[in-house]
Amino acid sequence: MAFVMTDMDRKTWRVGVAGLGTVGAGLLNFLAERPGFAPAGGRAVVTGVSARSRTRPRPFDISNLPWFDDPVALARSPDVDVFVELIGGSDGPAKAAVEAALSLGKPVVTANKALIAEHGAELAALAEAKGAPLLFEAAVMGGTPAVKMVREALVGDDIQSIAGILNGTCNYILTEMEAGGRSFADVLGEAQRLGYAEADPTMDVGGFDAAHKITILAALAFGCAPNFAAAEIEGIEQVDLLDIRMARDLGYRIKLVASAERSEDGVLVRVHPSLAPLDHPLAQAGGALNALFIEGRRIGRIFVQGPGAGAGPTAAAVAADIADVMTAPQRPVFQAPAGALEPFKAVDPSKMTGRAYLRFLVKDEPGVIAAVSETLAGAGVSIESFLQKPTEGAQGVPIVLTTHAVTESALTAAVERIAGLEAVLDRPRLLRIARI
Ligand SMILES: NC(=O)c1ccc[n+]([C@@H]2O[C@H](COP(=O)([O-])OP(=O)(O)OC[C@H]3O[C@@H](n4cnc5c(N)ncnc54)[C@H](OP(=O)(O)O)[C@@H]3O)[C@@H](O)[C@H]2O)c1
Repeated sequence: MAFVMTDMDRKTWRVGVAGLGTVGAGLLNFLAERPGFAPAGGRAVVTGVSARSRTRPRPFDISNLPWFDDPVALARSPDVDVFVELIGGSDGPAKAAVEAALSLGKPVVTANKALIAEHGAELAALAEAKGAPLLFEAAVMGGTPAVKMVREALVGDDIQSIAGILNGTCNYILTEMEAGGRSFADVLGEAQRLGYAEADPTMDVGGFDAAHKITILAALAFGCAPNFAAAEIEGIEQVDLLDIRMARDLGYRIKLVASAERSEDGVLVRVHPSLAPLDHPLAQAGGALNALFIEGRRIGRIFVQGPGAGAGPTAAAVAADIADVMTAPQRPVFQAPAGALEPFKAVDPSKMTGRAYLRFLVKDEPGVIAAVSETLAGAGVSIESFLQKPTEGAQGVPIVLTTHAVTESALTAAVERIAGLEAVLDRPRLLRIARI
């Protein structure tokens, strides 16, 4: 007998949506296009909304929807079964409303990476104590599957490392700098005018947004509590067009790479502008794309690429989580129940080894290159390749080299010694070569 479901069989899930900005608008438009969205047998119906301003013009009609000035009141409303938090921010109203919903045992769906990266462990404990799902697929890579892939599809593997491009704004800026030969400030200004970058771009260009996302993936992959405070973070503000050109001449492209690695010593979570070989898929993910490499002991290497932001893709990820709520999944929030998560054991980054790119601006005089080479050798850093390119009209000569694998502590010591040489005119530039 065929399985036929009628409208009468469908449970109605009353959804409260807090936050009607880019993602909230995407979700309401999605639910308008697919009324009673019912992939999992239930029906999702919006029964309340909240935002800062009730009167702000919006790309959809909210006049028929119950309005809540306070998202906490929406979360507590007896007419809301599922609370969707799309406000943003690690604390404040987003956290208060999520806590209010979970405390009442209501399922929560959020796109808020800052909240999960910074308070994920305590929220997971609350959610599991109340038997309520807490889902956040949209928080990492927008509509491109990452969270469920790591938490669910790859739970049978032992993930060793994850490396990816997790911030579309930075990827767009770096791509445009290279394509148009333009400075960071120039491209950022244009991105802000076009609405691709926030008025305050710090979260994106400072690497914090990517760090929130890789913190979440590290927790899901390695079975530890998320620990944003342990992440090493460097943004793209200091990436110079000269480095982009020099790296290219050496066969690399500069990307903001977020990575998490597990070793016997613990877990290292980092975000750095890093060099990726030109033919590597991470180097080829241009524009606002996001891309992710996962290396597992059994499955080997996996690569996914797709949009990491935007109303449509992000709303699709939120809707997928609402569908999961309807099927009542009983998984822990992270890889293991909150009480059984391993404490995050941070690796001392100074002990990590890796290859690096170094650029120095030196006086155009004999003996300088020998002095630099000797200084590096004295610090235990061996040179892999070397490039010297006189730049017309520039003060001094830029020299660029890549190193063989070396510890971070030896590398930074070498950079300090070189910075002290009389013939070196500028602060040396250090970029890591991605371990991918
Ligand atoms: N944008 C993306 O592509 C994307 C992708 C992945 C994840 N996310 C995450 O999704 C979340 C939302 O991002 P977004 O881009 O949609 O943000 P957004 O466009 O700035 O919208 C934020 C919404 O929150 C509302 N809001 C702010 N303070 C509030 C308060 N105290 N009470 C009630 N509502 C309040 C705002 O109200 P008003 O409209 O009245 O000002 C606005 O509707 C963030 O956590 C973000 O990191 C975004």
